[in-house]
Amino acid sequence: MEDPIFLGIEPKEPVPAQMKGRVMSLLRRIAQKEIGRSDQLYDLTYDLVKEIEEHVFSGDTSAVNIVDLAAQEEYLAVHSLNVTIMSLVMAYHNGFPNRVLEVGMGAMLHDVGMLFVDKSILQKEDPLEDEERQQIQSHVDAGLRILGGSPSWNAFSKVFILQHHERCDGSGYPRGFVCKDIHPVGRIAAIADTYSSLVYSRSFRKQMMPHQAIEIIMGMAGFELDFELVQSFCQLVVPYPVGTLVRLNNQMTAVVAAINKKVKTRPVLRLLTGPDGSAYNQIIELDLSDTKNQTIIIEEVISEG
Ligand SMILES: [Fe+2]
Repeated sequence: MEDPIFLGIEPKEPVPAQMKGRVMSLLRRIAQKEIGRSDQLYDLTYDLVKEIEEHVFSGDTSAVNIVDLAAQEEYLAVHSLNVTIMSLVMAYHNGFPNRVLEVGMGAMLHDVGMLFVDKSILQKEDPLEDEERQQIQSHVDAGLRILGGSPSWNAFSKVFILQHHERCDGSGYPRGFVCKDIHPVGRIAAIADTYSSLVYSRSFRKQMMPHQAIEIIMGMAGFELDFELVQSFCQLVVPYPVGTLVRLNNQMTAVVAAINKKVKTRPVLRLLTGPDGSAYNQIIELDLSDTKNQTIIIEEVISEG
């Protein structure tokens, strides 16, 4: 970033790209049944999540940047990594600062059961038949089975996997628990999983912009999702980290220069090109939280910082 327009904009590095490769490699080994022993899976997951934890907590833990947009085939790895990062930070700030590693290990493997669901079902665009829906829902119990019987697996990891699809209003699965029966870690899991699923689309759904996903999550607060944990989530997640390149609904492009602490979905931008594509050669900032800019909307993330 040597262009003077970028002066003073220092993106916080998201989790290094090589971490995504390591998550993919772990999931591939699980899918190919190369990991025969439960304690071996425990050790591999522990090492990976420990490294992610060290990276996430090496900086400012009051804000969490997640990984950039994913290619389709990398969906599960990126989803698992993002859910892990968000859950580490959420657990830390919501009563489990000493349990973040166990929570993160559950988050890393929360969807491993999906590796054994028929690809044709996962890619299906038409409504699912009952049997197909059941197969998808079985990924929760399958995930727990994949952990195996090693006594090292902690209850916090297991509850993350078991309850990440439970919903406070009882509409979730596999047990249909209501809020009071869902462990706080399960409620954190539900929020992180829902957010990541909305932002990093699969084939049957169009990808959503982070601010739209946050609005949906906020709309679910007090119904499907725990109200207070959603408030915490909205404080912690930065939908558009500093350095992110975006396209606006007026066709201008811009880079995120600063985060508005109170309205994280409406950052301060520095304009790069005008509606006709011509580049700005001086610094012009646009604060999206300013009411005079309320009709300007981020329409596309071109790339992360
Ligand atoms: Fe899941």
